[in-house]
Parts: sequence; C-alpha cells; structure tokens
Amino acid sequence: MIVKVSKTTGVHGELAISGSKNASLPALCASLLTKEWLTLENVPLIDDIYKMLAILKSIGCEYTVENHTVQIRSPNPNHKVLTEVVGDIRASYYLMGALLSRKKKVLIGYPGGCNLGKRPIDFHLKAFHDLGYRITEEEKFLHIVYNGTKKHRLRFVKETVGGTINALFASCRLEGVTVIENASLEPEVIDIIELLNKMGAKIEKNDNHVITVTGVKKLKGTMHKVIFDRMEAGSYMLLASSLPNSNLTIYPVDASLLRTVISVIRSTKTKVKIMNDSINIVSTENLQPLNVLIGPYPFFPTDLQQILSAMLLRAQGKSVIEDTVFPGRISHINELKKLGGNIYLDEPQNKIVINKSDLIGARVKAHDLRCTFGLIVAGGMANNSTIVENAENVLRGYENPILKLKSIGFLIDEI
Ligand code: EPZ
Repeated sequence: MIVKVSKTTGVHGELAISGSKNASLPALCASLLTKEWLTLENVPLIDDIYKMLAILKSIGCEYTVENHTVQIRSPNPNHKVLTEVVGDIRASYYLMGALLSRKKKVLIGYPGGCNLGKRPIDFHLKAFHDLGYRITEEEKFLHIVYNGTKKHRLRFVKETVGGTINALFASCRLEGVTVIENASLEPEVIDIIELLNKMGAKIEKNDNHVITVTGVKKLKGTMHKVIFDRMEAGSYMLLASSLPNSNLTIYPVDASLLRTVISVIRSTKTKVKIMNDSINIVSTENLQPLNVLIGPYPFFPTDLQQILSAMLLRAQGKSVIEDTVFPGRISHINELKKLGGNIYLDEPQNKIVINKSDLIGARVKAHDLRCTFGLIVAGGMANNSTIVENAENVLRGYENPILKLKSIGFLIDEI
C-alpha cells in the first residue's frame, strides 16, 4: 500500500480510539485456557488480530466476529501450531503459555514481529523452564512439555510484557503458588490479569512488580471489554501536537494511563485538557524541544518513540530521546532524513538527537508499524507531498487509519 500525504496545518474535531492491540492479542489466546465461550468486546479490527484468529482457527478454535466483539472457544485445541502465520506476528508467543496451561505441551515455530533490533524470547523460555516445563528445539520448532519439577518463584531480569503474560498463562492452572518478581505491570498486563481473574484464576499483584498466582484446576468462560489502545491514543495526540493549528479531542480514553505521554506533550507548550473520558489537544506554533527517557510503564512508551521523533522536528531547538526498551528502534531516522529532517543517532550514547528542520516532501519507505505512523506524521509537517511506501505496516496496529486521519482533516490518500 502506498499513501500520499500533503502538508496539513492542523487536525480538528473528535476521534474515537479503538481497543488495545496489545491487550486483545493475549486476550484471544486466553480463550485456550477454557473449553467455554470467551466474549471479548472492544477488539480492534486490525491485521494482527485477523492473523491471530487465523492461527487460533488452525488449532481448532471456533469464533465469530460481530462489529468489535469476538466470541471464541477452543473445545479441544491441537497443541501443534504448525501454521506459517506464527512467524508473522510477535504475539504468537502467547500460544505457548496458553497451550502449556491447557495441554501441558506445545510444538510451535518462533514468533515474528516488527524489526526493532534483537527480539529474543529467552525470558519466556526461562519462565517456562522454572515453571517445570522442558524445552527442546526440533528443526526450528520449539517442543515444550511439562515435566513436573516446578519452582515457586520466577524472577525476570528485565520487565517484559510478553514474558509476564506468558508466565501468567503457564502458571494459572499449575498446582500451588507461583510468585513472579520484576513482572511488567503495563496497563495491558493488568487488563489480562483482570480477564484471567474473571475466568476464575487467582492472581494478585502488588506495587513492587510482584505477582502471586495460586493455581486453579479449571477456568471458565466470561465476558471482558478490552481497554482502549494507549498507543493509538498517544499516536493521535502526537500527530495533533506536530501540526501548528490543531484542536483535537480523542475519546474514550483513561488519562490516568497516559500520564507520562500527557506530561511530555505539555512540556512542549502544547495544551492538553483532560475531561472525564476524553483528552483535548490544542497545538502551539512555538513547539518547545525536550529530552525524553523511554522505558517500561510508567515511563514514556517505546511504541510512541518514532512518532515523537517526527513531531520534535518542528520544535524550536535540540531534543534528545533515549529508548532503553528497544535501542534498535531507529528505522525511521534515515527516512526522516530524506524529508530534510535534521535527526541522527548519537551512537556512543545510543541517543536520538533531533533538531528543528524545515521538511520537504519526498518518497520514503516504512519499515515497521510505528515507523509508518511516524512517517505519515512527518508527511503532514512537510512542504509539498510525501509518498510513503510499504504503508500497509500501519494496518497491523491502527484500525481504519486512513479513514480516521481524513475524518480529522489530515490530508492523506491511498494511491
Ligand atoms: C510488547 O512487546 C509489545 N508487543 C510491544 O509493542 C511493546 O513495544 C513492548 O511490549 C514493550 O512495551 C505486544 O504486546 C504484541 P517486551 P514484547 O518483552 O513483549 C527484551 C507494538 O508496536 N526481551 O516487553 O516483545 C526486549 O528485547 C509492539 O505494538 C528479551 O531480551 O516486549 C526488550 O528490550 C512493538 N527477551 C525488553 O525485553 C525476551 O524474552 C522488553 O520487551 C523478551 C524481551
């Protein structure tokens, strides 16, 4: 897909935010933990969701999709996940924890996902090992089987969203109590804990990133509304801030889960007003530069780093961003340079330096999901038109992005 983006002075009106991709993907896999129907509301209709549904169908799941509600069940899922689609999305790793819980074994290929630099799954595999599962590799397939000798305490060396959720899946139906230390408590993880407890799991968390799981024999079906997509919300907030004459309201959102994003945007002198379930952004001509440290929640999220980089090309001075989660998330830098962006990677410091730039439209190439949205934002800031190739990447994580962008006055067309 190729899109043409033209200079846009501002975005206006009201924009509905969809449900969270990164909560919906594990929630769909949670359906493997029970024979009963699981009803998920507010599921975003995006490519990665359809890919996950295709994988689940390939192992025997039945589902219906009605508007944004998915009903899904797995009467007797196959533990062998042999479809190639596993290699298309990173979130396919959730099938490991879920099938280990239900079938005590899984045969599956390695997950795929955006190229953000190294993306191993060693944290996941160590958690499975500590939970008493034996892991062997057979011709590019991982074969994992329960062998009983389980530890009662896991500790992640680094906060991991996927690793934490997989450890919850793999331990929630294991006999005894499992304590998970240095767990990720990103809002999407909290949403999955709420879902699992509604299914009958016994999971408690504390503020020191310690989660205690008391194993139960069975889980039941339930109905759950997925939280809003924080990354989509943040992406449109940054888009509005990147253009000088924006007045945009996004809803339904919970501002308490976007605190750092709001404070970063406010420090650029962009006005952010919080109402009960919506946020209003009024941009400024005189965008201020800033330094941002990217880290696990509640730090500024890595998924918004590339979009923030684009926005700061309009700031009146030098900004510096350090992404401590995915330092390799730099595919946007060379593309933004094609638009005349004065942006570079300070290698020794591993920091992205962004200076005020007058952008001129050009032909650029999108390399991953969030890079694509960042290039679209930059295209709106640039004089003349910008052509973004490989724009289909944006469809992985944003629902109806072209329609939504047009609806708020952003000048974009698929060509
Ligand atoms: C999830 O990825 C999200 N993806 C990512 O969103 C998000 O950027 C990331 O969490 C961080 O918040 C999904 O939820 C599908 P991690 P995940 O495990 O689980 C390292 C998007 O744009 N690590 O929290 O893969 C890893 O390299 C995507 O929507 C290991 O070294 O991320 C990173 O430096 C991109 N070994 C850090 O830990 C492992 O086994 C945190 O990664 C796992 C992770």
